[in-house]
Amino acid sequence: MDEKSPPAGRYLDTLIYRLIDERRATGGETGDVLSMLVGAQTEDGSPLSSRQIHDEALTLLLAGHETTALALSWTWYLLAQHPDVDATMQAEIQTVLGGRLPTAADLPQLPYTRMVFAEALRLYPPAWLMTRRAREAVVIGDYCFPAGTFFLLSPYLTHRDPRFFPHPEAFVPTRWAAPPEAAPPRFAYFPFGGGPRQCLGEGFAWMEGLLVLTTVAQTWRMRLVPGHPVEPRALVTLRPKAGIHVQLARR
Ligand code: HEM
Repeated sequence: MDEKSPPAGRYLDTLIYRLIDERRATGGETGDVLSMLVGAQTEDGSPLSSRQIHDEALTLLLAGHETTALALSWTWYLLAQHPDVDATMQAEIQTVLGGRLPTAADLPQLPYTRMVFAEALRLYPPAWLMTRRAREAVVIGDYCFPAGTFFLLSPYLTHRDPRFFPHPEAFVPTRWAAPPEAAPPRFAYFPFGGGPRQCLGEGFAWMEGLLVLTTVAQTWRMRLVPGHPVEPRALVTLRPKAGIHVQLARR
């Protein structure tokens, strides 16, 4: 972005360049991504330019922010409609955490909560469509595609295919408890894409998503505001068309 960018873009630029300058000035190695970028070297051993650090930081911010927020929004939407699932998840969270805040080390002890998030990503994958172009001619099944063919791949559609997911429209977190031999094939479920352009932040997204989910869920229950329509709107990401309106109730 530059001086011709819209105000929001310029605001983000200013913010990120300021953070880079501050980090350089203090020289502090805080162990976070920005420190790593400031300390990183290119292949010829020179440090990254401010522009390069800015571009990397902005990509991480934009790729990671809305996707994770949407995944959580759809998770709350589904939990609000399925009090039985909410109760089971709540029991797990209480048993493991007993009211204290979660840390990343607790996450392996919260398998049901993880299944809830996985199932929400199945029904409402925030990145609902991705694209690929064939570098060379390729045969897929009975079809032959010339080099340059443009492919559209939709996790939203594939995740709702009954060949891979029985009762695909149903929100059933325990389907993810199936033994490996009964699990769907690798590319029946791809909310984080795959191949060389696989989501760079997948591990982070699981950690962040589950930490936020458990933190909020142990104190609050969400009830949908009656009469407010919730419909997915397929833009670059899969957003709720008119938002998801909820009432908070303390547990
Ligand atoms: C639930 C949350 C997230 C979902 C559903 C998601 C989904 C995806 C998908 C499907 C792609 C591949 C797009 C394609 O193949 O065209 C992607 C790429 C990417 N994601 Fe995520 N993502 C999430 C969270 C994050 C987070 C938290 C970060 C960073 C901290 C992140 C960083 C990236 C980056 C940098 C790429 C581009 C990778 C590349 O092209 O080499 N994502 N993401």
